[in-house]
Amino acid sequence: MDLFIVRGGSPLRGRVSVSGSKNASLPIMAASIMVDGEVTLEGVPHLADVTTLSQVLQTLGMKVSRRPSPGTDSQSAVEILIDDETRCVASYELVRRMRASICVLGPLLAKRGRAVVSLPGGCNIGDRPIDLHLRGLAALGAELRLERGYVIGVAKRLRGADIDLAGPRGSTVTGTANLLMAATLAKGRTVLRHASCEPEVVDLARFLCAAGAKIDGAGTATLEITGVEGLEPVRHHIISDRIEAATLMMAAVITGGDVLLDNVITEHLGSVFEALQAAGANTERITEGSDPPRQEIRIGPGSPLRPFDVAANPYPGFPTDLQAQWTALMTRAVGRCRVRDDVFPDRFLHVPELARLGANVSRSGSCAVIHGGLPLRGANLMASDLRASAALVLAALAAEGESVIRRIYHLDRGYERLDAKLAALGADLERRTDDSEITVLPPLPAA
Ligand code: UD1
Repeated sequence: MDLFIVRGGSPLRGRVSVSGSKNASLPIMAASIMVDGEVTLEGVPHLADVTTLSQVLQTLGMKVSRRPSPGTDSQSAVEILIDDETRCVASYELVRRMRASICVLGPLLAKRGRAVVSLPGGCNIGDRPIDLHLRGLAALGAELRLERGYVIGVAKRLRGADIDLAGPRGSTVTGTANLLMAATLAKGRTVLRHASCEPEVVDLARFLCAAGAKIDGAGTATLEITGVEGLEPVRHHIISDRIEAATLMMAAVITGGDVLLDNVITEHLGSVFEALQAAGANTERITEGSDPPRQEIRIGPGSPLRPFDVAANPYPGFPTDLQAQWTALMTRAVGRCRVRDDVFPDRFLHVPELARLGANVSRSGSCAVIHGGLPLRGANLMASDLRASAALVLAALAAEGESVIRRIYHLDRGYERLDAKLAALGADLERRTDDSEITVLPPLPAA
């Protein structure tokens, strides 16, 4: 298991390129199950979650390979092709490693008429049911039962239906993806109401349409899908990762740095710009050229940070996937603020770890309450989940002295080479194998 040793205090400076979106890549890779012929995906990031989904797809009889992309040195394209359509089991061993594996359920039922997919189970950010996925697939005509921790589904040809995806906490992102994919091959017309408007769902719709699907309303809460008989080979470029972009923006702000981000889509970051500007950060959106225009973001030295409350909500609201990072940032703003999470109200495992650095932060229901401005000092930290790991890295970059962050495998699930990117910007950050409990402790405080 790897850990990070971070010595805080260096302002980040320079240019960094944002990777392709994890949350767009995963459902689009799953959708390849439905395509007759080769799928070529450019911009898929190198991540543990992508490897896990590739393994899930391989056990489902798909060939998945990476090849260099023509004309680029470092980029590679993922190619996916059907090899054996008789295989329909996604095992607990793989699905438990990554919940997004559930995205194979809709495509399997739509294309192969049979699916045996493990229930993902709970996770560190709270209760994560899949009832809305299952209800929607049943409405499309799938017969589903739960047995020994697996969803077992059969379907002849799915048929279009009118489905409301509203759940107790708004819509569901991967639920929308699952139903959008399934409806693409269903007979007749499907309407998905209270669908997720997330850019990653729009990218999935763009991919499906390029393969021959008929979808209206992508990016709105109502999706209308007219089923088609099949999908054709397609090449698609994955959108850039708005969560990584925003995490890097906050890393620049928390260190008082001056950073230029490229490969960004600024429209996807509206709520982040609003929050950063309200907190006093110096942000600039740069658009150059045309056809297509190149977008960049500059984070420059700003005024001292001001406390600013955010509430995480579905897109276009402030993303729950940035709630932990914002909490870390607000420990540097002198004064009190509250960070609420309306999507995952239990997603606060980073709070006690931030307190270990000396931050005055506590949890109150679905909020973190921060009294910012206290000095942060390096400490031993434990990452609990993907985005919480990023929050700890940000706080450690701003802390005085050395921090050790363990269980960094959470971070590797969803950030492509974050340590290398931060180090290239001047962060004093080192990855080591956690082979010793003793030698990597930060210095003990004096009695
Ligand atoms: C996706 C993202 C994740 C992000 C989340 C919210 C991927 C791979 N993951 O996760 O990074 O944090 O969206 O933006 O894209 N819910 C139900 N019933 C369901 C499904 C969900 O009640 O059947 C609830 C969940 O418990 C949660 C809320 O709906 O409170 C939103 O969850 P959902 O949008 O489904 O999250 P994911 O798609 O799993």
